[in-house]
Amino acid sequence: MPNPRILVLYAHPAPHRSRINRRLADAARSLDGVLVHDLYETYPDFFIDVAREQALLEQAELVVFLHPIRWYSMPSLLKEWVDSVLLPGWAYGPDVTTLRGKGYWLVVTTGSPEDSYQPGERHGQPFEAFLPPFEQTARLCGMDWLAPHILHGANSASIEAIDTHVAAFHARLEQFLDTTPKDPHGI
Ligand SMILES: Cc1cc2nc3c(=O)[nH]c(=O)nc-3n(C[C@H](O)[C@H](O)[C@H](O)COP(=O)(O)O)c2cc1C
Repeated sequence: MPNPRILVLYAHPAPHRSRINRRLADAARSLDGVLVHDLYETYPDFFIDVAREQALLEQAELVVFLHPIRWYSMPSLLKEWVDSVLLPGWAYGPDVTTLRGKGYWLVVTTGSPEDSYQPGERHGQPFEAFLPPFEQTARLCGMDWLAPHILHGANSASIEAIDTHVAAFHARLEQFLDTTPKDPHGI
């Protein structure tokens, strides 16, 4: 594929059991201009090819982080990816512009329903209260934080709700691909 504009970093530790993220990954794969990079398939031993990952990031305009929420955060391989790939002097730091202006789009699912993410309920606070580490990672790297696409209550979601969520994701990717390609160093 010549220079896909969208890089989807797909991280699901148990993809064979996935009802939703797997469908989202398939929807993204159906589009020209999107590269779905399955991290657990590529790096089952957690040894990440940093140069390869940095090259993939450099040529993308939009980076999608697609995964289930695990312990209020990202799956462990994706955290290892962040630790290994977003290096000082390359991803951030004085005069570093590698990732500046690229979109950072968080596309995640939670097992628990949205109303359990409230004061006094099971998770104690709104789901958005768990997002600052993601958002600040984007900002530190000069990336544009886009409004996350979230499906709550994934484990009990109806087929209709899943279909609607997947269709909205697909449409948003198409919409992005319809825009004029930006300079690789900034959108
Ligand atoms: C180890 C582990 C940790 C999890 N942590 C959370 C969590 O912090 N909050 C939550 O709402 N769901 C949590 N879940 C549920 C997953 O987010 C849920 O199963 C997933 O989003 C469903 O997506 P899928 O159908 O693509 O697998 C956790 C699941 C596992 C196995």
